Amino acid sequence: MPAPVASSPASFDRRAFLKGASTLGLGVALSPAAVLQGAGPAGTPRRRYAIVGNGSRSIMYQEAIERDFREHAELVALCDLNPGRLELARARSQQLGGRTPPAFVAADFERMIAATKPDIVIVTTIDGTHDDYIVRAMDAGCDVISEKPLTTAPEKCQRIVDARARTGRSCRVTFNLRYSPPCTHVKDLLMSGEIGDILSVDLHWMLNTRHGADYFRRWHAHKKNSGGLMVHKATHHFDLVNWWLGGVPESVFATGKRDFYTPKMARRMGLTGAHERCRTCPETNRCSFYVDLARDPTLKALYLDHEQHDGYFRDRCIFRPSIDIEDTMNVLVRYNTGATLAYSLNAFNSWEGYTIAFNGTKGRLEHSVGAPKPGGQPVSGAARIAIIPLRGPAREIEPWTGVGAHQGGDKVMLEDLFLPSPAPDKYLRSADERAGAASALIGMAANRCFETGQPVTIKDLVRGLGAPTYAPMPSHDIPVPMPGSGPA
Ligand SMILES: NC(=O)c1ccc[n+]([C@@H]2O[C@H](COP(=O)([O-])OP(=O)(O)OC[C@H]3O[C@@H](n4cnc5c(N)ncnc54)[C@H](O)[C@@H]3O)[C@@H](O)[C@H]2O)c1
Repeated sequence: MPAPVASSPASFDRRAFLKGASTLGLGVALSPAAVLQGAGPAGTPRRRYAIVGNGSRSIMYQEAIERDFREHAELVALCDLNPGRLELARARSQQLGGRTPPAFVAADFERMIAATKPDIVIVTTIDGTHDDYIVRAMDAGCDVISEKPLTTAPEKCQRIVDARARTGRSCRVTFNLRYSPPCTHVKDLLMSGEIGDILSVDLHWMLNTRHGADYFRRWHAHKKNSGGLMVHKATHHFDLVNWWLGGVPESVFATGKRDFYTPKMARRMGLTGAHERCRTCPETNRCSFYVDLARDPTLKALYLDHEQHDGYFRDRCIFRPSIDIEDTMNVLVRYNTGATLAYSLNAFNSWEGYTIAFNGTKGRLEHSVGAPKPGGQPVSGAARIAIIPLRGPAREIEPWTGVGAHQGGDKVMLEDLFLPSPAPDKYLRSADERAGAASALIGMAANRCFETGQPVTIKDLVRGLGAPTYAPMPSHDIPVPMPGSGPA
């Protein structure tokens, strides 16, 4: 059985890469001309980026640098464990009209930085390896943009916090959901004080059996790679709540279990049991979770065609016993503001989206995305916002909208990331390692609760972590109007 995707650069065979690389014509040997400083049309220097981890998510950054923001940005290097995906990324550069950047094996990361001199390293590897590249990039003198989650374990978080203090380099974490128009709209309403200051929050996040199941097929299915859904997925959700509240999480209590994506469930659904992967499964005609990588051009090009390099199968059986992440999770969080969060994450739901309610001193804000209309089908991405004052009639509010991935949030975020002088942002959506840590640590604390059954105090997990910077929120000390005499 092939090994799961390697989580350490050292585990990659460099000689095999170089052999493969020369076959593929990768630019592992750099000429001085390849590292000349690029300039934008007006002669202003373009910021130099390297991307480490050239899988699915990296494409958004590559297209931003080489197409949408090419006047301000230049892609100077690529780095990955997998020479096949490196070559694919180089081909993408050619299609985008960029100067095809040189490619480096993961073990040559420092050599890449020395040779190509990026200003900023974008980290889009699997979650469990983020800390390694963030720390190495900062130690080599680069700033960092990291995909969420910042990292997956407290000791890795500590390394990042220490490296940030040691080097003074910046570390940005791309929480794209903050930028999605409905989420920004909710922040705007909370900042306005219409529902007063917030005392508690109820958030329920649903993944359906297509998207949700996919986490159990991929590298995410193992905590060493992803931190489980409590870190990989919920870091988005905890960050939203932290940012919406302008609060710092202090303590966490949680329970979690895997009850759906199990060998027993395979048998309950009429299969003989779990198998290795879809590609070799003897029961594909009876399994509605079957994925044919060869029939999907994107999955084929990104993963199936490069399996031989790293043994990573993108279609592993979602019922296999070796999975060690949860599919059903409940978490309670207490904040420094006194607010409390009750959160659930469910990965086998009938619809995809979330419902959240903020309970404030003057009323309640309800918000949902994707919820089915009564008697109707779930509406993908459809947002609702309502404000219900204490003892007053509910007010439906037309949510702000956007176009593109994450309700248009990715586009807004990319402008904030890649424009040389982005517009001032009263919502302070740009996040650094403090916010990255504050959200991921809730998930790590929850993971610890799953094991011990004991509550976890966040400040016991990492030393020297500063509080994130948030926009001012309604005070918890100002007078509150006596509720009116409207309907009960
Ligand atoms: N913000 C979002 O909405 C969003 C969406 C998707 C993914 N992500 C994040 O983006 C990151 C990448 O996810 P993805 O979906 O692109 O995964 P992916 O599997 O498609 O790509 C990961 C890439 O990293 C490479 N890699 C793995 N280990 C490595 C190592 N040690 N050194 C160098 N390269 C290594 C793999 O070969 C692969 O090319 C993850 O951190 C994920 O959480 C964020």
